[in-house]
Amino acid sequence: MLAVICTTLFSSYKQENPLYKDAKQPIEKRIDDLLARMTLQEKVMQLNQYTLGRNDNANNMADPVKGIPAEIGSLIYFGSDADLRNQVQKKAMEQSRLGIPIIFGYDVIHGFRTIYPISLGQACSWNPALVEKACGVAAQEARMSGIDWTFSPMIDVARDGRWGRVAEGYGEDTYTNAVFTVASVKGYQGKDLSSDKNVAACLKHYVGYGASEAGRDYVYSEISSQTLWDTYMLPYEEGVKAGAVTLMSSFNDISGVPGSANHYTLTEVLKKRWKHDGFVVSDWGSIEQLRPQGVAANKKEAALKAFTAGVEMDMMNRSYDSHLGELVTEGKVSKELLDDAVKRVLRVKFRLGLFDRPYTPATTEKQRFYRPESLKIAEQLAEESIVLLKNKDKALPVNNVSKIAVIGPMAKNQSHLLGSWAAQGKAEDITSIYDAIQAEYKGKAEVSFAAGCDFDGNDKKDFEEAKNIASKADVILLFLGEKKSWSGENASRSTIALPQIQEELMVELKKLGKPIVLVLSSGRPLELNRLEPLSDAILTMWQPGTSGGKAIAKVLSGRVNPSGKLAMTFPFSTGQIPIYYNHRQSARPNQGKYQDIQSTPLYEFAHGLSYTTFQYGDLKVSATKLKKGEKLSVEIPVTNSGEREGVETVHWFIQDPVSTISRPVKELKYFEKQLLKKGETKVFKFAVDLKRDLSFVNGDGKRFLETGDYNIIVKNKKIKIEIVD
Ligand code: NOJ
Repeated sequence: MLAVICTTLFSSYKQENPLYKDAKQPIEKRIDDLLARMTLQEKVMQLNQYTLGRNDNANNMADPVKGIPAEIGSLIYFGSDADLRNQVQKKAMEQSRLGIPIIFGYDVIHGFRTIYPISLGQACSWNPALVEKACGVAAQEARMSGIDWTFSPMIDVARDGRWGRVAEGYGEDTYTNAVFTVASVKGYQGKDLSSDKNVAACLKHYVGYGASEAGRDYVYSEISSQTLWDTYMLPYEEGVKAGAVTLMSSFNDISGVPGSANHYTLTEVLKKRWKHDGFVVSDWGSIEQLRPQGVAANKKEAALKAFTAGVEMDMMNRSYDSHLGELVTEGKVSKELLDDAVKRVLRVKFRLGLFDRPYTPATTEKQRFYRPESLKIAEQLAEESIVLLKNKDKALPVNNVSKIAVIGPMAKNQSHLLGSWAAQGKAEDITSIYDAIQAEYKGKAEVSFAAGCDFDGNDKKDFEEAKNIASKADVILLFLGEKKSWSGENASRSTIALPQIQEELMVELKKLGKPIVLVLSSGRPLELNRLEPLSDAILTMWQPGTSGGKAIAKVLSGRVNPSGKLAMTFPFSTGQIPIYYNHRQSARPNQGKYQDIQSTPLYEFAHGLSYTTFQYGDLKVSATKLKKGEKLSVEIPVTNSGEREGVETVHWFIQDPVSTISRPVKELKYFEKQLLKKGETKVFKFAVDLKRDLSFVNGDGKRFLETGDYNIIVKNKKIKIEIVD
């Protein structure tokens, strides 16, 4: 009798205090315990993501999901505080049989409320440590607002400025993307994913989305296996090594096999070779889209293809909740594969601490947003992202003038400075460029304003007013650029020139004979060949976010010396696209030029000037002949030869002139940024790891280090080394 009572008591204790709810147990044990209790339907529900709250992204519109099921695995949360989120979480915890918490995701791309420059701008700072801090702030603001998971970083190497999403990535170079991937993953996830200031990262869009043909969105992409590994895989590999717990499968196909149905990339490489133990979420609708892409006849087949390829979570396709259970019952999807997928999702939830602390504590906006430290980082990152493209006769900085004309449609516009995917950023919280310039020159110069024209259209009625104030000024600061909706998702352009009305405004202003400083804000590199000759100086500030106005004012006055360098080539003309620095070698390097225009870009990758000058000394290597496995160190002295302190980034490239698979003309392998005082010389060093830096991958990702000659290149200096057996 006693035994019966004890067994009954014990089993009811086990019912109420199951092992998976015990925070002291190891995560893997908790997962196994929970999985063993789940029904097929409960398992399937963990693999679906719906939305919650207001959604104003035109590309992501969906019917409002009424009556969210308590068993749902994930929701995209469009809110900016924890309240609604916690209400739905309560439903999951209390009304579902097992009380499995929901994971709430959102696109926190370059900040949550405090908005940082777009990722392309961030890359131009060449300051991954600062980007890590910015991502840390984004994570803190998001997690405290109820978001556990960001769909960021976007690490698609992109070489076609017509593609709107170049704004979201770290530019044209593979290594650069890899470095900033690691920085952002560390920033988002921190050391402890379960802390209330960190979020899960999501590497996207796996893989090759940046190769969308002709810069159009959602279309096909032609990627050979060699190019896949040479160009697109490294950022993902590094991101996985850095601990990113999720990835998003892409819309594009890899030479006919869609990213969301690609067994090779998703399972063979990611899960088996790289041993990723988190999960993959589809992009919005990318499973359903396997039908129009021509690899699935219906939604059920699409679900089968995506799931068996290795996509664990369905973002807004409603294909897994509709068909996965049936596919398992029919034996088309194995129970093992289903269990593995569910375990991956649960693993991320456990690591986030959601089982133990499912609710987001209520806080005020003041406690979460615009903390002084967050704003400081935003301002510094905006400053460091700005690139000085041209500075004829030291037209910049602008001081010792009494009248400044601020002209252009961007000068008073706060909203477009935020850029696309600006999460919960608010335009009204931003100091406009004009207001920041007023404050910067207060008591020193009179600042007047005229927009001159709109961003596009044909209305020239305000040209006269602009010319009138410009004619009275000592210098014209002209703020042109792109609206935020002109870049981002589904925002391709056939030309990357500015609309004609903006160019015409500049032509008219030039007639006044005053110095013109052109300041650009855009989500992509621009075609500037008609504007460049009209400008005395050109700055690009990208879409700089919350503190952009202040940052540009400080650069214009010279309080900040610009140090950004381009992470993406500015072509001379749109017709040159694709144009990027690390193209393969040509059969006839001196021929094959364009007949009508120069064949070189207007501003090449890594170009960026300063208000001071830097002299590069001679390259020195520790050895010129090495065996594989030996260590090599290269150094170069750099002297600040100008009149003020400045920051210089040294980019180290390698060149492999002869190899079994033709290599790019040069490849970035390392960069370093240092502050140099006036007159100071600093030695920049590159510790070359032969295997890592001089090897190359084949079409299946295998690395080779070949014997022979290599060049190490910094600016226009080159030094040769030889690797022998
Ligand atoms: C579609 C976009 O391609 C992706 O980047 C984004 O994360 C999802 N929508 C969710 O908003």
